[in-house]
Amino acid sequence: MNKALRKTVIAGNWKMNKTPSEAAALIEEIKPLVKGADCEVVVCVPFVDLHVAIEAVKESNIKVGAQNCHFERSGAFTGEISPVMLKEMGVEYVIIGHSERRTYFGETDVTVNKRTLAALNEGLKVILCVGEYLEQREQGITEELVAMQTKIALQNVTEEQLKNVIIAYEPVWAIGTGKTATAEQANEVNGIIRATIEKLYGKAAADGITIQYGGSMNAANATELLAQPHVDGGLIGGASLKAQDFAAIVKAASV
Ligand code: 13P
Repeated sequence: MNKALRKTVIAGNWKMNKTPSEAAALIEEIKPLVKGADCEVVVCVPFVDLHVAIEAVKESNIKVGAQNCHFERSGAFTGEISPVMLKEMGVEYVIIGHSERRTYFGETDVTVNKRTLAALNEGLKVILCVGEYLEQREQGITEELVAMQTKIALQNVTEEQLKNVIIAYEPVWAIGTGKTATAEQANEVNGIIRATIEKLYGKAAADGITIQYGGSMNAANATELLAQPHVDGGLIGGASLKAQDFAAIVKAASV
């Protein structure tokens, strides 16, 4: 286990927040605050904000991500966006398998795998989300569950493609609830995910993969979470919508 072998990535997941004009304004606010950060900084914005976001981050160290993509290149899939479309726009990252997509939009481990493969085949970087519900934690199946989610999501993903995958552990009970996993809980599950990667791809791949924590991460708790040996960054919801808070987390990751 060697933290120096992997990139620390702080990504904001704006979810369904910010119109295009609001997105441009927020990025302008964030830009000077994260300049010179010693970690990767990503903002994952709603589809309709991608264009202005890509323009706004030019000549800055901020990267732009989407929050989902379909698994086909094109076709009769009303309301969906394909990875080809994202790539052509200049999008670099895409979140796949967020628990809100799994819970509210029928996303399954199998469709998460299909979307992951499609995004990787198009050259996008994937932020793959896994995590348990509170009931599952109480049933004592967190370990098996995140290992299973990780394994299924990565079916047929090559070792080379894995270099473009970040995994985000997001316990569902900690998302938007203000109830953060303890640093120990986050580190433990991130370690389980890393062990799963080692079983599938070997030690070098496991040492190299960035595994984030997400779930009520904020300026106050980021330092402790990010200090954990298996926590290589954060996927930030609410706190990513406030420039100062997001920048404080980026700063905590840059030490
Ligand atoms: P919150 O930071 O608002 O809990 O959201 C976390 C999340 O779901 C990021 O993807």
